[in-house]
Amino acid sequence: MAKGKNTTVFFCQECGYESAKWMGQCPGCKTWNSFVEERVTSGGKKGRTPVSGILGQRPEPFRLSQVSMDKEERIGTGMKELDRVLGGGIVPGSLTLVGGDPGIGKSTLLLQVCQKLENGGYKVLYISGEESLKQIKIRAERIGEFGGNLLLLCETNLDVIKETIHDIKPDAVIIDSIQTMYSEEVSAAPGSVSQVRESTGVFLQLAKGLNVSIFIVGHVTKEGTVAGPRVLEHMVDTVLYFEGDRHASYRILRGVKNRFGSTNEIGVFEMREEGLAEVENPSEFMLDGKPEGASGSIVACSMEGTRPILLEIQALVCGSNFGIPRRQAIGTDFNRVNLLMAVLEKRAGIQLAGCDAYVNLAGGIKITEPAIDLGIVMAIVSSFKNRAVDDKTVAFGEVGLSGEVRGVSMAQQRIQEAKKLGFTTCIIPSVSLKGLKNIDGIRTVGVKSVQDAISLI
Ligand code: TYD
Ligand code: MG
Repeated sequence: MAKGKNTTVFFCQECGYESAKWMGQCPGCKTWNSFVEERVTSGGKKGRTPVSGILGQRPEPFRLSQVSMDKEERIGTGMKELDRVLGGGIVPGSLTLVGGDPGIGKSTLLLQVCQKLENGGYKVLYISGEESLKQIKIRAERIGEFGGNLLLLCETNLDVIKETIHDIKPDAVIIDSIQTMYSEEVSAAPGSVSQVRESTGVFLQLAKGLNVSIFIVGHVTKEGTVAGPRVLEHMVDTVLYFEGDRHASYRILRGVKNRFGSTNEIGVFEMREEGLAEVENPSEFMLDGKPEGASGSIVACSMEGTRPILLEIQALVCGSNFGIPRRQAIGTDFNRVNLLMAVLEKRAGIQLAGCDAYVNLAGGIKITEPAIDLGIVMAIVSSFKNRAVDDKTVAFGEVGLSGEVRGVSMAQQRIQEAKKLGFTTCIIPSVSLKGLKNIDGIRTVGVKSVQDAISLI
């Protein structure tokens, strides 16, 4: 960036790529027509503020052994599903980004967090740049009893917000949403890369400086990233995505990044009339309504973080009327399904070339873990042969290009989950049979290849 006082720079609104010239296509993320001119004031001085408040005194490095290991303090949100995704509760002074499609329930979730925190005696400030006080009140009425001490502020000016947080010193702050916030120092429109970056920077300083936990709501673009900048993701401590089918009632909160816990944990919620309710047993929820004795349907097991989830895989294979068969995958990777069908064709001699095939993960859940390969393969073959798989059977395993069934991690937990839900047989990779303990009450069948698995249908 040039040194001048007022420089204009072009930013890609998708990935934050910075350029001195306008460009038709972003070299970073290859999006077309995403560059927007933004004015950047006095770039030179920023970032030169001393790290410690006291001028001239350089902070000393610590020895690792000198760092005290007090037990990390966590604020429980009273919602087990959320606590799990956060890694055991809210860390004081943390900055958390909650992303998701508009209307998925981000504001509802965070208002419920406010409710729980407030009832626990914490001071909470909810800042909305999208809704009026009345609208928030209406939502709060739906959710239920509030203690009455929750502080609301409808504001989008960053300076005002900064001062308010300084004055009130709350324990937790909700910013709904980052795309509406603007700083007067940045001339670009709210929601643009430089505004979002500036605002997040300010919230980061506030969170660390005052030890407040801040939750930022971020809307997601069509492409599935938080609108505008990836920059936002690496600035915050924790990134949670709220996803789910808008037509189905359940919602999944997925941890994508977490500096205080493991990622890839999920929390499952159900959107009800009176807000979000926690779903403690997602497998039961996912398998609700599974048809009995139907061909093309099988239960598979996927690990989401530390939790096994059973889900129904459905396939429909039928003769194709046109030259090019139609293939579709809902809830899983389309290319992966094509690959598995090619494996079936070549390694197991199943003639799928003249068939349309549709694969669907029931309930609208999205899973890309390879452990559901075996389930997909068996569902396709079951539909192709028009022969149902036993209803009390669960299958999991990764399928390789030679048609081999490869081992998957945490077989024990998956089998345990199947047992808990009353399944009687597990079809698993033979290599995973080793080291299994305490699995009486459920039959395990090891398979080495897709042929072995198909012979069981
Ligand atoms: P909202 O939290 O406003 O979504 P976001 O902040 O992510 O844009 O949720 C909006 C949807 O949730 C809306 O379609 C109505 C539905 N909803 C319920 O079904 N029950 C409820 O109790 C509430 C508050 C919302
Ligand atoms: Mg909202």
